[in-house]
Amino acid sequence: MHILLFGKNGQVGWELQRALAPLGRVTAVDFDSTDYCGDFSNPDGVAETVRLLKPDVIVNAAAHTAVDKAESERSFAELLNATSVAAIAKEAETLGAWLVHYSTDYVFDGSGERPWVESDPTAPLNVYGETKLAGEHAAALCTRHLIFRTSWVYAARGANFAKTMLRVGKERSEMSVINDQFGAPTGAELLADCTAHAIRIAQRKPEVAGLYHLIASGTTTWFDYAQLVFAKARAAGVELAVSQVNAVPTSEFPTPAKRPHNSRLDTSKFQHTFELVLPDWTAGVERMLAEILGQ
Ligand SMILES: NC(=O)c1ccc[n+]([C@@H]2O[C@H](COP(=O)([O-])OP(=O)(O)OC[C@H]3O[C@@H](n4cnc5c(N)ncnc54)[C@H](OP(=O)(O)O)[C@@H]3O)[C@@H](O)[C@H]2O)c1
Repeated sequence: MHILLFGKNGQVGWELQRALAPLGRVTAVDFDSTDYCGDFSNPDGVAETVRLLKPDVIVNAAAHTAVDKAESERSFAELLNATSVAAIAKEAETLGAWLVHYSTDYVFDGSGERPWVESDPTAPLNVYGETKLAGEHAAALCTRHLIFRTSWVYAARGANFAKTMLRVGKERSEMSVINDQFGAPTGAELLADCTAHAIRIAQRKPEVAGLYHLIASGTTTWFDYAQLVFAKARAAGVELAVSQVNAVPTSEFPTPAKRPHNSRLDTSKFQHTFELVLPDWTAGVERMLAEILGQ
């Protein structure tokens, strides 16, 4: 099997390089690759890459993920998150290849408390969500598609929420963290491993093509997530200045892009179809914390 991976250096892309390796030959590109175009601001270029390489499977981890910035650069976000996705999907369709693509809980308006199922009506609150929704429709131009909606993605490599909490917690005695957004932090490792498994299943059972919710199990808020970070840091002997953490509503942190309150996703369809059990969010976060705390 020949797999073409776009966005190889992002959080998920980096882990995919590892998880896809045992499946076959992987050609991995990024936006500044020189051998083949991996730049999603160039739809013709990425389409040409698919035509030249003729992969069996394309995995797209490239995206415009700067949620607030997208508010002021809609057409650029659209180009990366939808136009180029359509370009590679059409080439994949011509080849009869699989296209694996990632989307987001931000396609929903975040109302209510029930976990969203795949068939729920979408109503994005921000430009990023709108362009990602357009990207889902674009990816589905390829019949053999797997679209995974995920949320609150973190990785040990690069910046993440836990590292920010640790930095601020060392600097300040008091801090405020949002407590009215509900979701499940999902590790890039878990996403990559589940993707590799799903690709293998899809080779035998093409009828699994479709849209899936894929996040870790359980639910938390940024406030409770931060409390876990501080507890684990203290247990590891890290000296923190913070003695008071205030739980505050989203309205206390105004941002250019609106965020959904309810990011819960029902993953029953994914777990049932691919015969996997998605672990609780704390399992991956505790592992990531052990790594960054040097344990
Ligand atoms: N992060 C989350 O919380 C989250 C939540 C829900 C869904 N998702 C989705 O999950 C997927 C993977 O996200 P992630 O967390 O791995 O994001 P990420 O770390 O931001 O990775 C995205 C990658 O795309 C690259 N990129 C930027 N501009 C590009 C261009 N013009 N051409 C090609 N690549 C370009 C980025 O490069 P630079 O880093 O150099 O800009 C980065 O390597 C995305 O589809 C995202 O929408 C993410």
